[in-house]
Amino acid sequence: MLSNNITLTEENSINNATFEPKYYFSDEENRPPKLWNNKLWYIIAEANVSFNKDMFWNVVERWTNEVYLVIPPIERVDIISDIENKTYQGSIHDELSANINPVRSIKRKLIPKRKNKDEELEELVEYYMDEDLNESRVIYTPIISNSKESSQENVPFYYPKVFSFSYVYKEYNSDSDMDYQSQISIEIIPLQSVQFTDKMKYVYKQLFKKLYKWCQNTSMGYEKRVHHDLLVPKELYKETYQRLKNKYATDLVRNWTEKTDPVKFVFEDIAIASWLISLWELERIEQKSSKLQSFIDLGCGNGLLTFLLSSEGYTGFGVDLRKRKIWDKFIEKGANLIEEAIQPNSITYPSTDWIIGNHADELVPWIPIIASKSSSFTKLMVIPCCFYSLSGSKYTFPNQVITSGKYKAYQEYIQDIINKCGFITEIDWLRIPSTKNVVLVGRKRRVFDSKGK
Ligand SMILES: C[S@@+](CC[C@H](N)C(=O)[O-])C[C@H]1O[C@@H](n2cnc3c(N)ncnc32)[C@H](O)[C@@H]1O
Repeated sequence: MLSNNITLTEENSINNATFEPKYYFSDEENRPPKLWNNKLWYIIAEANVSFNKDMFWNVVERWTNEVYLVIPPIERVDIISDIENKTYQGSIHDELSANINPVRSIKRKLIPKRKNKDEELEELVEYYMDEDLNESRVIYTPIISNSKESSQENVPFYYPKVFSFSYVYKEYNSDSDMDYQSQISIEIIPLQSVQFTDKMKYVYKQLFKKLYKWCQNTSMGYEKRVHHDLLVPKELYKETYQRLKNKYATDLVRNWTEKTDPVKFVFEDIAIASWLISLWELERIEQKSSKLQSFIDLGCGNGLLTFLLSSEGYTGFGVDLRKRKIWDKFIEKGANLIEEAIQPNSITYPSTDWIIGNHADELVPWIPIIASKSSSFTKLMVIPCCFYSLSGSKYTFPNQVITSGKYKAYQEYIQDIINKCGFITEIDWLRIPSTKNVVLVGRKRRVFDSKGK
């Protein structure tokens, strides 16, 4: 096991920010291994930081695509597969024993520059978001064939001699009185006989410094695009999320009858419902009203969001052109789900407070129009996903959008429709493990003068 009781503290000033990493190259008592997702992890480096989580993911993603930036002997990577919200067979976190699954898993092959001399290596890269611990984690695991023992000799020289290696970003609670908002660390699952040689210590330290420096630099050059909690305060959201999760999650995951991944849908929809319920709670306080809002979930799919909102006392229904098997269970428990093909150019819902379009495909660009025609008090929220235009065909992007990214450009297209329908668009970012987490809200109407301006 780990030996050589060394704890180092060093100071470095990188771009005016103080970097004070602590290294633990031993299993000394004050740094016991920690159990995470049913595996024992050893923290070997940690440091307080003040950049946000997006910087961490930004750098991780860059290193995933350009691995030679961190492992110079590697020329390139060949991606074997890349999947979301699932784990591969052979992952150290198999679905049965793990509490949480990765939000993304990449199986890839590292191709070295010196093809005749160095061996290729297959590797699993897994992204995790642990909402309970406020942790983001990327895990790298070399895949050693069954015929070989997972020993140091079988890991090429350019790769850390570990069973698994991870970078972790942890956000402190907002009520903690720490000066720093978060912490980064390197955590490993060691191979049985691992010893930290001076060379290994040097490599880990270099990697850790590099992670810090890249995140810090990204943060400094980064135009801050993501501001969570604009419409719903974090604490209110978290409280609601915890409550709904405790109340519904276990039962929903256990009794999921769809072919889709219950872990993805259940936790994502609980997050969306929590955000909406928090927003509506604030709205009632502002309007000094105790009447719960009514809603319609257009393109409701499996009906889970409708079920959650109805179960929390909100009156409303979900509509989808295709009934799902699980609807029967939700209908039995009081949810109102309707199988119907909506004609978006003619339908209105005059007595509804909120129209919801969660990844509602072709319906998303129509929802602001439907809301504005329904009544003067009808509001909307949409979470855009696939790129459809008002014609029902795929949205054609203007050429100049390539730099800002298609998702951002599509969001602006929907925003433009919301504005043209007379709403003031408000934006928030949902705390869900998806890059498509922008929510657009139209709840305030623009006031026009007599000339229509
Ligand atoms: C990507 S799925 C999303 C489902 C669900 N909102 C979710 O997030 O899981 C889009 C849904 O919109 C439904 N849909 C698209 N056009 C529709 C229409 N004109 N009328 C009713 N449902 C429609 C589809 O059947 C599909 O179930």
